[in-house]
Order: sequence, then structure tokens, then C-alpha cells
Amino acid sequence: MSKKVFIETLGCAMNERDSEHMLAELSKKEAYESTNDFRDADLILINTCSVREKPVSKLFSELGVFNKKKKNDAKIGVCGCTASHLGEEIIKRAPYVNFVLGARNVSKITEVLHKDKAVEVDINYDESEFAFNDFRSSPYKAFINISIGCDKACTFCIVPKTRGDEISIPLNLIVDEAIRATKNGAKEIFLLGQNVNNYGRRFSGNHEKVNFTKLLQELSKIDALKRIRFTSPHPFHMDDEFITEFSNNPKICKSMHMPLQSGNTKVLKEMKRGYSKEWFLNRVAKLKEMCPDVSISTDIIVAFPGESDAEFEDTMDVMRQVEFDQVFSFKYSPRPETEAEHFSGVVDADIASARLTRVQELHTQHIDAKNASQVGNVYSVYFEELFNDGFVSGRSDNNIVIKVKASEELLGEFADVKITSIARTVLTGEIVN
Ligand code: 5AD
Ligand code: SF4
Repeated sequence: MSKKVFIETLGCAMNERDSEHMLAELSKKEAYESTNDFRDADLILINTCSVREKPVSKLFSELGVFNKKKKNDAKIGVCGCTASHLGEEIIKRAPYVNFVLGARNVSKITEVLHKDKAVEVDINYDESEFAFNDFRSSPYKAFINISIGCDKACTFCIVPKTRGDEISIPLNLIVDEAIRATKNGAKEIFLLGQNVNNYGRRFSGNHEKVNFTKLLQELSKIDALKRIRFTSPHPFHMDDEFITEFSNNPKICKSMHMPLQSGNTKVLKEMKRGYSKEWFLNRVAKLKEMCPDVSISTDIIVAFPGESDAEFEDTMDVMRQVEFDQVFSFKYSPRPETEAEHFSGVVDADIASARLTRVQELHTQHIDAKNASQVGNVYSVYFEELFNDGFVSGRSDNNIVIKVKASEELLGEFADVKITSIARTVLTGEIVN
């Protein structure tokens, strides 16, 4: 009889892909199938995130609930970034946890399952060439990892300590995975890595030197593949070659994530981001010039240690100049083992909250103004998600989420959609062909 696994996935798309990888290994090698109810599961996995502090403190209260209400002999495993950074401490604080599996070790899921109290959190472990079994939560949209780890040293970020050094996955493995994904129904792929446009910097085996542009060109040759998305590129690596390929390759979706973090050059220097306010604005201008329909999203951190009112105003200034289509904004959260943890000039909590509110209000103004002119526009939409209320949703090339009333036959298909009504982040439309 098959066993059941419940996986809760927190954090980013990389974690979502890691969860899919673990599920693929568990179902092929151990005959597990997934369940949405942890009370019914033989194995409970939490795939954690540690980028900000809050999710970490939530982890232990959640583990307590799982332990109390789970089936008697069900196992609990803590995986992902918090597993990497807390390691054994997790079992010390929650002794009923059966194993701890770091973000860089997910290929070992079927090993740790059989070793009670196993702690596998080596951030130098190299799984860049590990052939995971295939599994995707949706066959229509395929996440594909192109690298593991991160070589940057942004002073606020814990990721290099949880995912280790950056290693690119060999080009042939990525292309093979994309071909398999299209055979299983995907017309769109989503490439994942911490710094995708730094692809090819380091391979673990002896592989031909290729860069991100070359990878995009090779993937574009796959006939059945119609659209390519990726996240996250780094503004520092946005050279002209990359922007040109992005703009001219018709299979690349015209949606760019450009994590700004701060609009002030001095703060950016303290964050060790490697670019200035001027470089960022120059890259945006180049991108908009070469690709006028591009939509640009960003990440912003307010109240980094020492950020003055005037420095914060530079972030607002960049926002006004760029008018981002999507903004993920955060208050700075000190993380262990990062440089900024020891920086002086902690910003008062009320000031931090006020800055966050100003960022969010300005962004709301920008999207409301953009949405106001959307009714009547027609977009080619790739449909990927079915809702219980009779709607199917998808995305335009430039990443606008659009819902139409339709049935599941639309999943995995393209259709032209005319926008009929607007809510803040989701537009509704009707199919026009
Ligand atoms: N505090 C607040 N936000 C952070 N991020 C990363 N580390 C921190 C931190 N210590 C944000 C960055 C990054 C996004 C994934 O999370 O904006 O781009
Ligand atoms: Fe963190 Fe910077 Fe790496 Fe992004 S690029 S994951 S912010 S260290």
C-alpha cells in the first residue's frame, strides 16, 4: 500500500522546485503519494525559508501542532534553508523531529528517511549533476533549476550560508529536462537560480564554458517550447548582450525582475550589491528602449542599518522613475551569520514601518494608474491554473495575471483575451479567439 507525504513549502520558487524534487524521489523510490491533510500523512515535511526572521519563529510553533495532531507513527522532517542554518539545534528544540535536511541536500531525502535523527546540512554538497526523478505539481508550467547556491555576498542575505557556493547545472541536463517537460504538456518553462544571468560562472564537472545568453538560445531551439521565463537575474550582470537577447528573442517573456533593494548608492555599497543608483537606472532605460512593452518587478528593503531619511528618498525616486509593475517590499530583518547583523544605526521600528507604508502606497498608485487603461486591451494568455469558482487563470507575456470563465480544457493552451474588468492584481477578461 502506498504511503502518504504532506509537504508544506514556504519561501521562494527554488523551494517549490526542491519540494517537487523531494516528492519525485519519494514517489519513485518509496511509493509515496502526496496528501493535502497532514493528519493523514505518514511523512510530514516542512520546506523552510530563512530569508527573514518571522518564518523561523513560526516554524517551531507549527512543528508543535504537527507533532500533536499527526498520525501516531508519522515522521516529521525539517528541510530547506532554516534546516541548513539551524541544523542539529532543530532536533534539540523539537526532539520529536525525525530528520533535518538542508536546502543543498534535498537529493538525500530517501536516505535520511531511514536514519532516525539524521542531520544532513552540508552547504558544500554538490547536487548540480544529480538526476532527480521527474515530477511537477502542474504539468503546464515547468520550474527548472539552472544553478544551485549563490556567490554574492550581499550583507543582509543569509542565502549564501544556506545554499552554499554557486554551481551551474550543465547545459545538456537543462535542455533535456526542458524537452521532457514539453513532452509532458508544458509550453512554458521557468528557469530558476539565485543569479540566473551569472549562469556558467562555475560548473562542477568539465563542461564547455557557456553563459546565460547561450543557454537561452539553446532552449529556444526546442520547437514545442513557446515561452521562457526566469528568476532572478541580478542588476549587476545586466550587460548589453543579456538585454539584447532578452529583447530580441521572441520566446523570452517580456517580464524582468530587477531586485533594486535600495535606490541609494551609499546604501547599495553597504549592502555590497555591486551597482549604483545610476547603473540601475541606466539598465532600466536601456531595457525600456530596446523592449518598450517590458514589465519590471523588483524587491525593496527599507530601513537597512544606517539608512537616513534622505537615502530612503532615493528609493522612492527610483520607484517614481521606473514605475515598477510589481514590488516585493520588506523591512530589513537582521539575519544570523550576515555582515549587516553587526552594522550600527538600527532604524527605529516606527520609522521602518512608515517607510514600508510609503513604498507600498506609491506602488499602489502606480499600478492603479496602469490598470485604469487596461479595459479593452487584448493579451495572448498561457493558461495554467484552474479555480473552483469556474475560472481559469494564466499570464500574459509581460506577466499580467488574467482570469477568464472557462473549464479545464484551457489549461496548457494559449488564447487571446480581452480585458473586461480590473481588480488590483488580477484582471478578468473574455476569450476573443
Ligand atoms: N531582510 C529583509 N529582506 C531581505 N531579503 C533578503 N534578505 C533580507 C533581510 N535580511 C529580501 C531581498 C531579496 C528577497 C528575496 O528577500 O529583497 O531580494
Ligand atoms: Fe541574497 Fe544577494 Fe544572493 Fe540574492 S544575490 S540570494 S540577495 S546574496
